[in-house]
Amino acid sequence: MQKTIKIRKFAVVAALSLLVIAGCGKKSGPSGKTDTKKAVTAADSAVTATKLPFALKEGKRLFSHYCAVCHGETGDGSGQYYGLTPTPANFTDKAFMKTLSNEKLFKAIMEGSASVGKSNMCPPWGKSFHREELEFIVTYIRTLAVN
Ligand code: HEC
Repeated sequence: MQKTIKIRKFAVVAALSLLVIAGCGKKSGPSGKTDTKKAVTAADSAVTATKLPFALKEGKRLFSHYCAVCHGETGDGSGQYYGLTPTPANFTDKAFMKTLSNEKLFKAIMEGSASVGKSNMCPPWGKSFHREELEFIVTYIRTLAVN
């Protein structure tokens, strides 16, 4: 939490200093409009840049809390309930992950694995999370396939 706040603070400070720098430069057009626009774009990308680590951190937190018990801390399917039939999906398997579109991934999570033609072993989570939290989880799951 502390870190997130710090990162956000940094983004705000960075954005403000860009605005100040842009405000001081008199080189562009007479109205100075171009500079302001540039500063706003830079501020936007500073915000986007800080949003991803936050999404990953939140995604990891939610995943370890709700999913890791079956899917494993690393997402390889070897959670505490390893031995389920079928085994929980292995998110570290690149070949498998390639077959999963984001659309299918969202559907499987929100409506349960049965909704995508699999077993009913993975419960529906759609009512447990906000849309943004689901996006965080998916963003995180997408980082797990390393080999
Ligand atoms: C009770 C154990 C359990 C929990 C908890 C669980 N899953 Fe699953 N999950 C499974 C099993 C088992 C499968 C494999 C289903 C199959 O292949 O029939 C699976 C499959 C999946 C799939 C793949 C569906 C596909 O198309 O192959 C996704 C995505 C998924 N789970 C996401 C999640 C997420 C995200 C969470 C946490 C919010 C979660 N699961 C929590 C057991 C679980």
